[in-house]
Amino acid sequence: IKPADINAAGHLQIGGVDALDLAHKYGTPLVVYDVDKIRATFRAFKRVFEEEKVPYAVSYASKAFCAIAIYQVINEEGGHVDVVSGGELATAKAAGFPMDRVSFHGNNKSPEELAMAVDSGVGVIILDNFHEIDLLSAILKEKGKWAKVMLRVTPGISAHTNEYIQTGQVDSKFGFDLGSGQADRALEQVLADERMDLLGAHAHIGSQIFDVRGFVGCADKLASLGKHWQDKYGYAIKVLNVGGGFGIRYTEADQPLPPEEFVRAIIKEVKADCQQAGLPLPEIWIEPGRSLVGQAGYNLYTIGSRKDLPGYESYVAVDGGMGDNIRPALYQAKYEAVLAKDPAAKAAERVNLVGKYCESGDILIKDCPLPKTEPGDVVAMLATGAYGYSMASNYNRNPRPAVVFAEGGQDRLVVKRESYEDLIHLDLKY
Ligand code: LLP
Repeated sequence: IKPADINAAGHLQIGGVDALDLAHKYGTPLVVYDVDKIRATFRAFKRVFEEEKVPYAVSYASKAFCAIAIYQVINEEGGHVDVVSGGELATAKAAGFPMDRVSFHGNNKSPEELAMAVDSGVGVIILDNFHEIDLLSAILKEKGKWAKVMLRVTPGISAHTNEYIQTGQVDSKFGFDLGSGQADRALEQVLADERMDLLGAHAHIGSQIFDVRGFVGCADKLASLGKHWQDKYGYAIKVLNVGGGFGIRYTEADQPLPPEEFVRAIIKEVKADCQQAGLPLPEIWIEPGRSLVGQAGYNLYTIGSRKDLPGYESYVAVDGGMGDNIRPALYQAKYEAVLAKDPAAKAAERVNLVGKYCESGDILIKDCPLPKTEPGDVVAMLATGAYGYSMASNYNRNPRPAVVFAEGGQDRLVVKRESYEDLIHLDLKY
């Protein structure tokens, strides 16, 4: 929490709006995004490319937070987006997002999803495996259409992060292997298909990565692949897509570089490699998800019950939990929380900040330092903007929260709170 995050009343402010006012106006649990922060990060990414004079695309990985409103913001900023399902694509379409700036990802796109991508005219389909090349080939032939594609390769880099979110190591489920010749065979197949226009190669090494060497290594592998393809096939890569994964600060234990500095290191590596190999500089694309929306997001909760047992840890319960943020239970992810009415207040105790779900593992923050709290106090969990709402569930049949965008002192509801009717409207009587 910085001084700028506190308003004249001493309350937490988000996008210039008082967090307590937001909690009262929309109810809790509530997800709030500071849109100014999203735009600032986006522009910082763009600035690095412009300073380094490299053709580029900043493609928001919309799995981190998917809703019509975020596609609108990214469109306003002139960005690209990546989608990984028909559902994300449908949301981008509903937002009026220009389809030629959409990349379609996934390791098992269904025939229906591929057809939808082709019919929608998405900018590029990132091919992940041989089955998919065959499927797309047949779809294009049948429809008499053409598509731009990229090949996703597995760079064989194990980035140091939680194993569930590593994707670039050799035995990953994603992409064509480099060492065994899979990537070459994929290239041959795509080049032989007159309906596919190959833009280049894609790799993504994982998420919440702090070590810049992982990104530099990935950039180096892709650039070497470009050289190899040039030498062996005379094929010149137009786009080198290095994925996302730039780590952010959740707690003070996290000390990442500013996200754009990871990108600067990647650009420098690609430039050096291309110069050495005598290759023209390709476009460099990045796909940040977490680093664009993570720290811009806040989950507001209202405190309810409390349990104290002398000699044991205390529990303070809020009106949300693992249904709106599964990350602590799933990845042992750590967060910080502050009181909305006094975010700078000194901690008076350490408690387990828990949710309302019927599971002992529904602990949002273990050993959370907090001032003395009372039922009715509003707490803000910080940096919840990535993979929080997007991974939300209706476990225990709790409705998912509302989402609000705040910017320049104005707030706007962008996703309604689910109602009980919403929860049961797909159920049929037996
Ligand atoms: N590009 C590709 C191909 C990806 O698979 C991902 C994330 C990204 C970009 C964006 O990565 P980011 O910049 O957000 O790190 N649910 C997990 C994260 C899963 C990430 C999956 N892929 C979590 O909550 O930590």
